[in-house]
Amino acid sequence: MRNIFPFQSKLSSDQRSRQMQQAPRLIWFTGLSGSGKSTLALRLEHHLFHLGFKVYLLDGDNLRSGLNSDLGFNNDDRKENIRRVGEVAKLMLDAGLIVICAFISPFEEERELVKNLVGEEKFTEVYVNCPLTICEARDTKGLYQKARKGVIADFTGISAPYEPPVSPCVEVQTGEESIDESVYKLINFIEPLLEVQ
Ligand code: PPS
Repeated sequence: MRNIFPFQSKLSSDQRSRQMQQAPRLIWFTGLSGSGKSTLALRLEHHLFHLGFKVYLLDGDNLRSGLNSDLGFNNDDRKENIRRVGEVAKLMLDAGLIVICAFISPFEEERELVKNLVGEEKFTEVYVNCPLTICEARDTKGLYQKARKGVIADFTGISAPYEPPVSPCVEVQTGEESIDESVYKLINFIEPLLEVQ
């Protein structure tokens, strides 16, 4: 970096965390299109908000409508999408927030990159595991049908790869569980992580 002089804030993350009365954390949902990422992330955000946590959800379709509207779905653009989201999430964590991210994030390498960027101790990876056949049968947005017809290129699971997480912190099986069951599992796992020690 040339002619750039980042400064260190006089406020530590501990000070911010104590003022916010919560432990900042990045909860990262990964999974196929139609697996239920956004549905579960919205439910989790709602639940945590009503418990008094300062929480904010970043979601693929929403970020791609603004900050990342210049990006498409080839491998390089998806990597850049996740890199930017990781940087945004890092700033939000530094501000003391609990951040929920719901992105397909198909590559292990980029998920690792985000984990290392924010620090492993603040990162919770959630695998929203749903078989492709079920996601395709649901086809809530009609995108699988378009992908099969070749109208959409580089579609995850059809014409673009998805690398399942090797060791996610928590996994929900949305092809078998009800939404309530998955939400319950997530809340039980995540809530205790958010209390200030
Ligand atoms: S990624 O892979 O993490 O960069 O994708 P993400 O930012 O999460 O965006 C996924 C949403 O984009 C819509 N969409 C596509 N998804 C996958 N492949 C292709 N080619 C594509 N084109 C558009 C789709 O609505 C995805 O949302 P979800 O919620 O995953 O269904």
